Formats: sequence, structure tokens, C-alpha cells
Amino acid sequence: MLALALAAAVSAGAAEPASAPAPESSLPRDSADAAVVRGGIVFRTYCVLCHGAAGKGDGRAAKLYTPRPANLTISPFNDAYKEMIVRGGGASVGRSSYMPPWGDELTDEQIQDLIAFLRELRKTGA
Ligand code: HEC
Repeated sequence: MLALALAAAVSAGAAEPASAPAPESSLPRDSADAAVVRGGIVFRTYCVLCHGAAGKGDGRAAKLYTPRPANLTISPFNDAYKEMIVRGGGASVGRSSYMPPWGDELTDEQIQDLIAFLRELRKTGA
């Protein structure tokens, strides 16, 4: 009985179209979606402590800082400004140095990916 069920499962599997795209090929490395996914990983590694998992400025360490870490889901700033404050830190744009500089810590690609992620965060508010 089990052998029969297995045989059925195997032949059902074989009926799948052989040309189904592999997961990698459905998310090319240079696609905008891939950048958002990578940026999300960078964000979860370096930014959530202050900005919170959803970017709302409510991370575990948020209440240690005045001014509070920004709510990135409603940030009024454009990509260029965000890149500037992420690279140089708050002090580099005349704001709080509690926002650390990341330019030496992260690669250019990681920063571009972060900006793509922040753009998406701003859109979805999630
Ligand atoms: C140690 C806490 C801390 C960490 C970690 C941190 N930030 Fe911040 N961030 C802040 C604070 C505080 C501000 C607000 C500064 C101000 O208002 O003067 C801020 C502001 C910002 C802003 C400006 C947005 C706006 O609408 O004003 C951006 C963008 C930003 N952070 C992105 C990031 C990213 C991306 C990371 C991770 C690479 C990160 N931050 C990590 C504390 C932090």
C-alpha cells in the first residue's frame, strides 16, 4: 500500500513541468526585489535595535535616545538624503549623533540595498 502511494507520488512529481524556474532564476541578483530582500537582511542585522523590526522607531534601545530613532515608515526624506545620513550618521547632516555612521561598516552594495528596503518600507508601512 505504502509502495503504491509512493509510486503515485513519484509519478505525480514526474508530471511537473521540467521547465519550472529554479528559485534563484525567479529572483535575479540585480532585480529591485532582490535588493529589497538583501536590504531587509542588512536592516535586521544593524538597524532594528533602534528603529524596530518594522522600522517604526520603536526598537529595544529606542527609549535610550532623545531624539528617538526615526519612524522610517513615514520618513519624509528622499533616497539621496537617506543615503547621506546612513553613510555619514546623524551628525553629518546636522542631526543627532545617536544615528551612527555606517559608511565604513557597510559596503556600497549593502547601503544601496538598504535604501531600496527603506523605499519599500515607506511604501508598505510594514
Ligand atoms: C543607536 C541607534 C540607531 C541605530 C543602530 C540606527 N539608527 Fe538610524 N537613527 C537613529 C536616531 C536617534 C535617528 C534620529 C536622529 C535625529 O532625529 O536627529 C535616526 C535617523 C535615521 C534616519 C533618518 C530618517 C528620518 O526620517 O529622519 C534614517 C534613514 C536612518 N536612521 C536609518 C538607519 C539605518 C538604515 C540603520 C541601520 C544601518 C540605522 N538607522 C541604525 C538611531 C539609530
